[in-house]
Amino acid sequence: MAEDLKIAQGSKQEQYLELIPQIKGLLEGEPDLVANLANTAAALKEQFGWFWVGFYLVKEDELVLGPFQGPVACTRIRKGRGVCGSSWEQAKTLIVPDVEKFPGHIACSSLSKSEIVVPLFQNGAVVGVLDVDSSALDQFDQTDATYLEQIVGLLNLS
Ligand code: SME
Repeated sequence: MAEDLKIAQGSKQEQYLELIPQIKGLLEGEPDLVANLANTAAALKEQFGWFWVGFYLVKEDELVLGPFQGPVACTRIRKGRGVCGSSWEQAKTLIVPDVEKFPGHIACSSLSKSEIVVPLFQNGAVVGVLDVDSSALDQFDQTDATYLEQIVGLLNLS
């Protein structure tokens, strides 16, 4: 396992392309889900400096806060509520350029301006989401969706 993250420079794509093998290295040989979610959130936060990066996991009929990096956050989100609950319900990645324009957005912090939520799948079902918040408007695009989907695909969720 790599002990330090090498912070990549360059375009967003170049940063993801250097980060992904390092995340693979962090996950390799470690079966514990909490450890792996924690290091994945930390690696993303270190590389990109986003305001909040973390996971919510489906527990019964709610999303419950999991490992994250950033300020304290809401602990439980119902299906269909907010960006996270909508991503769970629709089983797809949601990109929100301006959270104030997303109906039902759950504001854990007024500093969060844009957001991307990527579902985690196990056997075709959504078992959690990766939520990333930025303090800048319009921070996320299809490049983030593509690579963040790749990154959550590296996680062994069983
Ligand atoms: N804004 C999210 C809630 C989670 S926090 O941003 C960490 C939402 O609308 O689902």
